[in-house]
Amino acid sequence: MAIGVFDSGLGGLTIHRALIDRFPDADFVFLGDQAKVPYGGRTGEEIVELTKAGCVTLFEQGCSVAVLACNTAASIALRRLQQTWLPGYRKALGRPVNVLGLIVPTIEAATGLPWEHEAERRGDKVEKLDILAVFSTPATAASRVYEIEIDKRRQDVAVFSQPCPELAGRIEAGAPREELAAAIQSHVKAITTGIGRSPDRAILGCTHYEIVADLFRAALPPDTPLIHQPEATAGALARYLERHAEYDPGHAGARRFLTTGRPGVQSSLVEAFWGTPLSFERA
Ligand code: DGL
Repeated sequence: MAIGVFDSGLGGLTIHRALIDRFPDADFVFLGDQAKVPYGGRTGEEIVELTKAGCVTLFEQGCSVAVLACNTAASIALRRLQQTWLPGYRKALGRPVNVLGLIVPTIEAATGLPWEHEAERRGDKVEKLDILAVFSTPATAASRVYEIEIDKRRQDVAVFSQPCPELAGRIEAGAPREELAAAIQSHVKAITTGIGRSPDRAILGCTHYEIVADLFRAALPPDTPLIHQPEATAGALARYLERHAEYDPGHAGARRFLTTGRPGVQSSLVEAFWGTPLSFERA
């Protein structure tokens, strides 16, 4: 068996790398749906169907779990697939498989609380509001998942989302860094204007953005910490696999990279991030 990692495109590699660091002996299959990227401007129905198709491909390749390394897929499709599709699919397949996401670990990291914790609503006066900025695709921002889930747990944290249309697509296309830096600066400026001051912390709520995390770092004030999804997701998967021995992650250290798009080598932006050229097989 293997650990499957799914994204609309190459952003999921940022999560994938943290998972490889955490589980060096496990077998991995990465799938980027590059024929359909970006997901961020698509309808909910499309995102659910495309995510389901990606999970099926990973399970057919022998994966026991499919990690949705994509905020857009996880915020729109994960709960729906777990509730309506996965039980029947698992039964038909005749072996245990599961689909996991990255929103829960990110919210745990942002709140410092376990997912099960829900705050008592006591209406106490909040002395100091912690302002959390979330940069994401339009679809993730429209889902309001970060606002809703963080508000259930922490009354002293106010979430402001900044949709960044086109940004994931431009990163995927390997756009020049100067162009990406200018776009990121304008999104940071927009959210700062909306809040009325700089955020206290920020989440890069689209896995593509981690590829250019240094550009977000440079655009934000130096004392605004970034909450990184890759580390949070790897930690959560380690805890999950400890509790669920039925999901065997494999032990041969095999790595496969699949794409629904054009196979071969990816952009120099991705190569610089990954450290070596990465060649993809056709899914
Ligand atoms: N990398 C994805 C995310 O985390 C999706 C980007 C896109 O396809 O628009 O949201």
